Amino acid sequence: MDFAGRTRVLTLTLIFLVTPAEHERDTVQGSEVIRVSEGSDVILPCSIEESVEQQLFDWRKDGEKKKEVFMYDAGLHYNNGLRDQDDQFRGRVSHFPDQMKFGNASIRINNTKITDSGNYTCYFPRINGGLTFYMKLVVGSVPKPSVTIFNVTDSGVQLKCEVQGAFPKPELRWKDSDGNILDAEEPEISERDGRYHVTLQTTVTSTTTTSFQCVVQQKDLNHETASTITVSEKLFVDSCSKVTIEGFMAGMMAGAGLLTVVQAVLAAFKFIRISWIRGTKKNEEDEPETKKPLSSDIITV
Ligand SMILES: *[C@@H]1O[C@H](CO)[C@@H](O)[C@H](O)[C@H]1NC(C)=O
Ligand SMILES: *[C@@H]1O[C@H](CO)[C@@H](O)[C@H](O)[C@H]1NC(C)=O
Repeated sequence: MDFAGRTRVLTLTLIFLVTPAEHERDTVQGSEVIRVSEGSDVILPCSIEESVEQQLFDWRKDGEKKKEVFMYDAGLHYNNGLRDQDDQFRGRVSHFPDQMKFGNASIRINNTKITDSGNYTCYFPRINGGLTFYMKLVVGSVPKPSVTIFNVTDSGVQLKCEVQGAFPKPELRWKDSDGNILDAEEPEISERDGRYHVTLQTTVTSTTTTSFQCVVQQKDLNHETASTITVSEKLFVDSCSKVTIEGFMAGMMAGAGLLTVVQAVLAAFKFIRISWIRGTKKNEEDEPETKKPLSSDIITV
């Protein structure tokens, strides 16, 4: 094969490789996921091979009802007079005028909110009878978990991990410092205004480690964050001594029963003694008053 022939094969191969890819791009379905954290700005990408300055392109967000995010029509757009932009996006979306001649129809959303999360489309109605680009935006809130010692009981030290206002829904796990996942109680999950509050408790006993980690995973955001707590050896000792104290208390209770018996015996003895004194007193009726303190002393014992 001569050089020209080889070039032809190479060219054909390249066309073969490129064509399906280009076709795929036109019909791409939510293949691109863009992840940002709440409050930051994000660029949603969309571009074609020709200038978009004289084009119409329309950005929409999926939902129960499609929301108008940004529309550009040959120079007119939502920031210079076009109407019907959704309130959610008003004043927060802009395009890149100096990039348009390169076919760039990307937009920037400022100060993203959790509610901006969802599927977006960039639509060119006048190209190839309608050309649509799809992408998914996930605006996350990734609070660091707070970890506390919740209680010390006879079964160990109770640890609590708490995450407030997270999005997307986080999964919590307790691990020891070797990375082993610890048994935990059922997580408590509540949701308010699209944000999740989750707590997860576990009980740890004295092991080879005293350091425990609460890991918060937000799969849709590809995000993981963790907080570590160190439990002092002393608490484990306290946890054990608590058992001893309780044992002691139980002993005391049993002792109390015995005490009652002893008191009853003493009381009976007292009664006998008082009767005996009274009996003696009768014989001492003629005696001077000086003896009285003795009998009253006994009564007050
Ligand atoms: C976004 O698109 C994906 C598929 O591409 C779909 O599973 C999901 O339900 C869509 N989300 C919304 C909010 O429409
Ligand atoms: C379009 O413009 C934005 C903003 O300047 C830039 O970030 C992005 O990379 C551009 N896209 C293309 C395909 O050039």
